[in-house]
Amino acid sequence: MKNENKSSGWKFIDEDSTFAISNPQKSSYLYFPLVNEAGMMSAITPTLHGDIKTSQNTFLMAPVSAEDLHNSRAARNFWVHIEGKEVWSATGNSAKQISLNFNQEEKEEVHLEAGLLWHKVIRENKTMGIKAVCTSFVPANEDQVELLKVQLSNTSDQNLTVTPTAAIPLYARSADDIRDHRHVTSLLHRIYTSTYGIEVQPTLSFDERGHKINHVTYSVFGSEGNGEAPTGFFPVVEDFIGEGGNLDWPEVIVKNASPQSNAGETIEGYEAIGALKFNTITLKPGESKSYIVALMITDNRLKDVSEIIKKYCSEEQFDLLLEQNKIDWKEKLNNLNFQTSDIDFNKWMKWVTLQPILRRIYGCSFLPHHDYGKGGRGWRDLWQDCLALLIMDDPQKVKDLLYNNFAGVRIDGSNATIIGSEPGEFVADRNNIARVWMDHGAWPFLTTMLYINQSGDIEFLLENQTYFKDTQIKRSKDLDLQWKPEQGNLLKSENSDIYKGTIFEHMLLQNIVQFFNVGKHNNIKLEGADWNDAFDLAPELGESVAFTALYASNLKEMSQLLLSLQEKTGTEELHLAKEIMILLDSISNPINYDSAEQKLQRLNQYFESCSHKISGDKISVSIKDIAADLNSKADWMITHLRQNEWIKNEEGFEWFNGYYNNDAERVEGNHTNGVRMTLTGQVFPVMGEVATKDQVKKISKSVTKYLKDEKIGYRLNSQFGEIQQNIGRGFGFAFGHKENGAMFSHMAVMYSNAMYQRQFAHEGYDVLNSIYELSKNFELSRIYPGVPEYISEKGRGMYHYLTGSASWLLLTVLTEMFGVKGKLGDLSLEPKLLLNQFNDQNQSSVFSYFANRHLDIIYKNENGLEYGEYQIQTITLNGEEISFETKQKAVIISREFISRLTENENHTLEVILG
Ligand code: G1P
Repeated sequence: MKNENKSSGWKFIDEDSTFAISNPQKSSYLYFPLVNEAGMMSAITPTLHGDIKTSQNTFLMAPVSAEDLHNSRAARNFWVHIEGKEVWSATGNSAKQISLNFNQEEKEEVHLEAGLLWHKVIRENKTMGIKAVCTSFVPANEDQVELLKVQLSNTSDQNLTVTPTAAIPLYARSADDIRDHRHVTSLLHRIYTSTYGIEVQPTLSFDERGHKINHVTYSVFGSEGNGEAPTGFFPVVEDFIGEGGNLDWPEVIVKNASPQSNAGETIEGYEAIGALKFNTITLKPGESKSYIVALMITDNRLKDVSEIIKKYCSEEQFDLLLEQNKIDWKEKLNNLNFQTSDIDFNKWMKWVTLQPILRRIYGCSFLPHHDYGKGGRGWRDLWQDCLALLIMDDPQKVKDLLYNNFAGVRIDGSNATIIGSEPGEFVADRNNIARVWMDHGAWPFLTTMLYINQSGDIEFLLENQTYFKDTQIKRSKDLDLQWKPEQGNLLKSENSDIYKGTIFEHMLLQNIVQFFNVGKHNNIKLEGADWNDAFDLAPELGESVAFTALYASNLKEMSQLLLSLQEKTGTEELHLAKEIMILLDSISNPINYDSAEQKLQRLNQYFESCSHKISGDKISVSIKDIAADLNSKADWMITHLRQNEWIKNEEGFEWFNGYYNNDAERVEGNHTNGVRMTLTGQVFPVMGEVATKDQVKKISKSVTKYLKDEKIGYRLNSQFGEIQQNIGRGFGFAFGHKENGAMFSHMAVMYSNAMYQRQFAHEGYDVLNSIYELSKNFELSRIYPGVPEYISEKGRGMYHYLTGSASWLLLTVLTEMFGVKGKLGDLSLEPKLLLNQFNDQNQSSVFSYFANRHLDIIYKNENGLEYGEYQIQTITLNGEEISFETKQKAVIISREFISRLTENENHTLEVILG
């Protein structure tokens, strides 16, 4: 269908990845994040809609879901009463202006520019002869404040007499109160006016947390650009809109009424609005005037409002803080810069680089599509977000985070699922439901491996950490009734000491327990779900073959890591909890791995030994023996998967089955409703070398045949054609959406990563490129630069910004496409760039951070060779040729060598390919 209101899409307009777009208000669902490290979290749309909050319980503007962006009228507004003409909203939020979106004759010109991390909308109404430039940002400082500057200009040839009024509805309470006493909680409001604005401090917080005295205060202050105060206020919503009016046609604005309140008043018990009326002024043709509005959340009422006014309420301060903000974000993102032949791609990657930081601050909540959760982050997401942090900054800074997270592991290999904001703060489950995601144990190893590779800190494996303890035991299949909450969440030994084990022991348990935790077909049980949260209806007989492959490769890599530990540190033995010997069966008492029953029996024996407390006895085991045990388990799994889960369908296509459902039936292959296939089922066998090279080729063909869609890219699964009560709720979603067959970026990027890892660079590139092309095709995706969680059946980008795929995308581009990665602390270079990624000078480069050094790594492909034809010939460092070691296809430069370079200076590595 032809879209008459077609928007031209965004374009990058400078070197800092700033983009511009015309008529953004003609695309629905667009939103942009404004945020700072102090925890101010805003979402803003082209009409300055959205919300502003610091937590689930402290929303300045009412929380919005994606649909509210067009349905609710409660936006940041800035009204202009123009003498002799109609009223006009500088933010486009008047009933009249909204109707103009479909009106071809009388147009408003709207243009948006946004950068790291600011948002500017320029709106001009030629008929009225007025223009407004609305700039918003959250300053990079310790305050929880969002700032707005509105610059009004007279673009007509006559004088304009205007009266501006800023109007920001102050919801001022917990998100829970939307559907839990919205009216009653407005009775708690105490509204205070002072010279520059309005503060709302509810008397109590009145929600599930109990009726507590509240101190948090929500304010709107404003001034003219020169610091002059407003003339008065309309602090109460019902008085502001008037009987029969509403927020996009308020009576006091339409009638240009006198202010209803002056400074120094207190009003009790109404829905509030930060409506600040300014002096009437006359703008001569071409003349402009600016206004500043500060939206704040503070722990208490401000002791000294004048300090805040001095800090924020002048144009001079606004401009200064905006410049600082730009510098701050630029510096944050400066450790990674990609330069390929596609300049737009390089700039687009800046926005992807921002995304993991956004997820660190927002968690998986607090943007309009993320209308769930209450802040905090889930286990899986936390570990994967750390991947990006490890390559964007000094890994040592992330180490503490990793170390603390390990305290969430239970002795049965499962873990607390929610991590609070303080170190060591864990919650078993957000909704107090006993469940275990079977993939959770696999991610910490991947992230820890990256940490060790980037930093060389292999001794991290030997640091001691506590275990999480609660009432759930045996992977939430049973309860420890002897445990009481007052005993605390730390695992104790028989003599009631707090038990600690090494980081390695934690990871060992997470992975080895899973080896035994199998279903009928001898693959690991699906339990509550795996990575796909929506595969949640097969807890009894379901199996995740996909993650069996990941656990297999983890066990294999762990065994190799142990040998490296021995080699690098001379450690010969590890001290492990005595009980773990039960699971190191090849050393203690071997079982038959072909028997699922024997495995479960053995696992139960282990669970029984540590259900309430652990003995506290440690046993020394030789590293060689542990490594051999893990290796033999991994080998068994790999052979098992190759022999039993490799399938061939009627059309002759071959791939790995990824799942068994709750009726213990194989999920993938031919079916009366069509061919059933999952991408997840392919990713981990490819990534972990469970698939042979020949199998990878066949998988790639099958994925192209059954999952690749010209319009929306690589789908997460084919169309199953019916809801699957024996797999999960995901199949209740419409096909082509979210976890049912959308292009789900996270898994698609991991597929690309896996392909690159196996040297299938063309295949890996095709996947990444398709995600990039789909995301930047604004006509369909309707999102700003960056990678969305998924692309829907219509091609729309969904759940923008807060997605784990951004971490994986960054990681894949840096460590696979550019092949820049750590190898136990050394620097390894193995570019997998395609010929078309080199620019006119036959160069492609990445600026990155490694061993605390800034390295500009420039690949020179002077003979224009394609991937596969070139190899690294010579390397110069700051102009001088250096020697290097070659391991398989990679070149290794020792950490020691890099450490000799001066810190905090840029160093250039020119890598000649030939
Ligand atoms: C989201 C979740 C992630 C989960 C995935 C699939 O992906 O955050 O934990 O594995 O859905 O259910 P994301 O938004 O991170 O791309």
